[in-house]
Amino acid sequence: MKKKKGKTNNRKATRSDSSGKAEKAKSEATREAKTLRREKVPFDKPGNFLYPIPAVMVSCGTMEKPNIITIAWTGTICSDPAMVSISVRPERYSHDIIQESGEFVINLTTRKLVRACDYCGVKSGRDVDKFAETHLTPEPSHEVSCPSIAESPVSIECKVKQMISLGSHDMFIAEVLSVSVDSSYIDSKGRFMMNKTDLACYSHGDYLALGKKIGSFGFSVRKKRPAKRR
Ligand SMILES: Cc1cc2nc3c(=O)[nH]c(=O)nc-3n(C[C@H](O)[C@H](O)[C@H](O)COP(=O)(O)O)c2cc1C
Repeated sequence: MKKKKGKTNNRKATRSDSSGKAEKAKSEATREAKTLRREKVPFDKPGNFLYPIPAVMVSCGTMEKPNIITIAWTGTICSDPAMVSISVRPERYSHDIIQESGEFVINLTTRKLVRACDYCGVKSGRDVDKFAETHLTPEPSHEVSCPSIAESPVSIECKVKQMISLGSHDMFIAEVLSVSVDSSYIDSKGRFMMNKTDLACYSHGDYLALGKKIGSFGFSVRKKRPAKRR
């Protein structure tokens, strides 16, 4: 049988090409990292500099007397069981409602909901009906008795497990009982296209729209797929 010389050589060439490419990419990354180094100085007022973060609309109360409080001090704190936290100043009208009912719903904020989100963060439910003022719709939740916000693409129903007084804020640690998502963002494979919902975030006093996708989980180590043969 004839040896396929050409093919063997090609394969060798491809291998050395790819290791050369890897070397080049590595040295480019090193060069790039060097240009990113900055001189940092201690800031005068150390404080909460952990940004960007979500600014969420937390609904609480009952269907008859619902309220919304905007919360930026929130986060995911456990995967299994799914748990989240919100930190609320004791003087907020919503604080006692959440403490007494042991329930709240985290509703994510989109670009179109930012104005309502801000309003719910500067007005108190003691003085105004925030649902009526923002034209948001309270809708029954699935697992808790406080309403969700119909206009939000993601509503996370939570049951308080613990309250920890930290100082200015009390942190409510809660278990996620149910999550409802806007069905129009569920694709044909049943996946929720969270990043198509136009979510907004909050950074150092400003609301920002999310920008373009610049990577996805694990992309830094993922091998590139070989180009498809035509
Ligand atoms: C962007 C933003 C984020 C906020 N984050 C929090 C927070 O994490 N915790 C808190 O207690 N108050 C926070 N506030 C303030 C409350 O939302 C605000 O005092 C609100 O009027 C309280 O409503 P209530 O009295 O109806 O409960 C935030 C306000 C804004 C605008």
